[in-house]
Amino acid sequence: MLHLELEPVTVGTSGLGKRPGADLALATAILSSTFHQADTSNNYADGESERLLGEAIRGIGGLPEERVVFSKGDQDPVTGAFTGDRMRRSFEESTERLGLETLPLYHLHDPYTISVTDAMAPGGAVDALIRLREQGRIGAIGIAAGRRELVEEYVRTDVFDAVLTHNRYTVVDRSAERILDLATERGMTVFNAAPFGAGILAGDNFRGRTYGYSEPSAEFLAHVDRFRALCAEWGVEPATAALHFSLRDPRIHSTVVGVNSTERLAELERHVQASVDVEFWAALDALGTPPAPPTD
Ligand SMILES: NC(=O)c1ccc[n+]([C@@H]2O[C@H](COP(=O)([O-])OP(=O)(O)OC[C@H]3O[C@@H](n4cnc5c(N)ncnc54)[C@H](OP(=O)(O)O)[C@@H]3O)[C@@H](O)[C@H]2O)c1
Repeated sequence: MLHLELEPVTVGTSGLGKRPGADLALATAILSSTFHQADTSNNYADGESERLLGEAIRGIGGLPEERVVFSKGDQDPVTGAFTGDRMRRSFEESTERLGLETLPLYHLHDPYTISVTDAMAPGGAVDALIRLREQGRIGAIGIAAGRRELVEEYVRTDVFDAVLTHNRYTVVDRSAERILDLATERGMTVFNAAPFGAGILAGDNFRGRTYGYSEPSAEFLAHVDRFRALCAEWGVEPATAALHFSLRDPRIHSTVVGVNSTERLAELERHVQASVDVEFWAALDALGTPPAPPTD
């Protein structure tokens, strides 16, 4: 199993490309920031995320040696095909947009329309990734998806070097616990994405009441409110606590935080630098087992 050397924070760029005109500056800021790892995907903003990162890379004269971009292979946006051929095309599209010949990590992304058996079949999507790794075009291969049981099944195949779980291991949710354990037993590299549950855990000014892109129960929201009250009591910003909850877990190699503006990029640096009183974590535990999240 190939193990990636990682820094604790990776900048997530799924929002990049959704604000025409403003996002090239953001892509450039991300690639010039104190964070050296960026996470994107073939299908983020219909390819705009990769395209803007590529434009920013060219704008700064090439990707500096100490920086890396991770991406993901997606199904065909028109036909929905998730075959070996599609995976190779997805990779060619990604590398062309980014202007990079090789990628240190390429994930199988959200494989919800095919069975694990089909994905793992000879000549299938995972086989294609393995061949690209053998050819040296990809350094490591990963599985990046939501649905917990599906991710566990892919982790158990023992062919992936890395796993990315999201919105399932946060200050109010431990449902990815088994994924973290299974991956750790196998010596896999672990990314924990969306430590803010996509926003609700980061601040009171969050634009909605969703958690992990879904509507939570009233019980779950009450638990989020208890978390916020605890933060207020301890004088900790919710986003700082939510981020450090992931940063302090020894099973997690890098936490992927979505950054949609240069202001949020500066905020992220501040949250990373901030410290949380060690006693806070016992107080968080004392809130009790979080209610079931809306995610599966
Ligand atoms: N299947 C997969 O592979 C998968 C799935 C999900 C995520 N990911 C990766 O993980 C990354 C992170 O996911 P994510 O962005 O959905 O979730 P996240 O990191 O938990 O949350 C990011 C969101 O938090 C909000 N936020 C930050 N500070 C805030 C504050 N002070 N007040 C209110 N809101 C605040 C931001 O909102 P604003 O827009 O207002 O700045 C941003 O949209 C993605 O970019 C992607 O790279 C991968």
